[in-house]
Amino acid sequence: MEENSVYFIEQNLLPFHFNIQEAKSFTQSCDAIRTMKVRGAGAIGALAGFAMAQAAQEAPEAGYLPFLRQARIEIESTRPTARNLFYAVDKVFAAALISREEAVRASQQVADHDAADSQKIGEFGNELIRDGMNIETHCNAGWLAFVDYGTALSPVYLAHQQGKKIFVYVDETRPRSQGARLTAWELNQAGISHTIIPDNAGAWLMSQGKIDLVIVGADRIAANGDTANKIGTLEKAIAAKEYGIPFYVAAPTSTFDHECPDGNLIPIEERSEDEVLYQDGLTSDGRHEKIRVCSPGSSAFNPAFDVTPAKFITGIITEKGILPADRKSIREIIYSEKLK
Ligand code: MRU
Repeated sequence: MEENSVYFIEQNLLPFHFNIQEAKSFTQSCDAIRTMKVRGAGAIGALAGFAMAQAAQEAPEAGYLPFLRQARIEIESTRPTARNLFYAVDKVFAAALISREEAVRASQQVADHDAADSQKIGEFGNELIRDGMNIETHCNAGWLAFVDYGTALSPVYLAHQQGKKIFVYVDETRPRSQGARLTAWELNQAGISHTIIPDNAGAWLMSQGKIDLVIVGADRIAANGDTANKIGTLEKAIAAKEYGIPFYVAAPTSTFDHECPDGNLIPIEERSEDEVLYQDGLTSDGRHEKIRVCSPGSSAFNPAFDVTPAKFITGIITEKGILPADRKSIREIIYSEKLK
């Protein structure tokens, strides 16, 4: 954050253009979240925290508190599922009640903690990765989605840095194709061997012994371990269980929602049908174009997330260690300093 501006990578343009955009006000930051220029639970949370700090700078001396409250409502209404958004806004709002400067400090702290947590997730998750493993991942849970290292991809990066020979199967992740566009782009930058697979190929590859480990991110984890993540995660988890393949969720403890007893109560965002009916991409002569890819006259239903019941999750990789996806372990880890 500089002056009152926040700079962010415009994810909608990737993998074709790398552009850094400026949000000069909290409403511009809200717009970036709403339109998915910034996406992924951690990145959304970091920007939401900065947006709250921007609001604290913009608030008039007289009417400071009502302005802050209204801004909070607006920021929180941008996207409903990612827990980190509410976590960050809560922290920065509390700091803004002390002073404008405290708000800025708190917003930076949220982002810094995310980076530190992601790095630790990499260290713990790396212990699960053996030389020669084939790993499947869904959506984007790399450094674009979670400050600096990512969540599901953080262990992958570390394993690669340590010279382990690994291969990543990247789920395309329709309709917004975060896997095909963002995860694949990140892995390309890092020189990690990978291939993009259609969303419906995972179970078949598992049945053929082609997948050794699945790691996904999370948008919100309920108190019993049920996990909301990008739509399509649930069917990968069910298939992994059927074929005896370990299925891990990687997320910091800031993604846990202690007030949500189980996955049935996690709000699931429904997005515009246009995301299913249309696709955008680069034409052979370099133009960015949006075209309809579905039958004209048909409508589409577009839930953005699903909830994987805890029973399908082998473990959750957090910054404090790897824990079983159950209520007792989650309660213990939240209040512990370190698991191991
Ligand atoms: O593009 P989004 O914000 O709708 O998608 C969210 C995600 O990137 C994920 O679901 C991801 O797997 C977990 S967040 C690191």
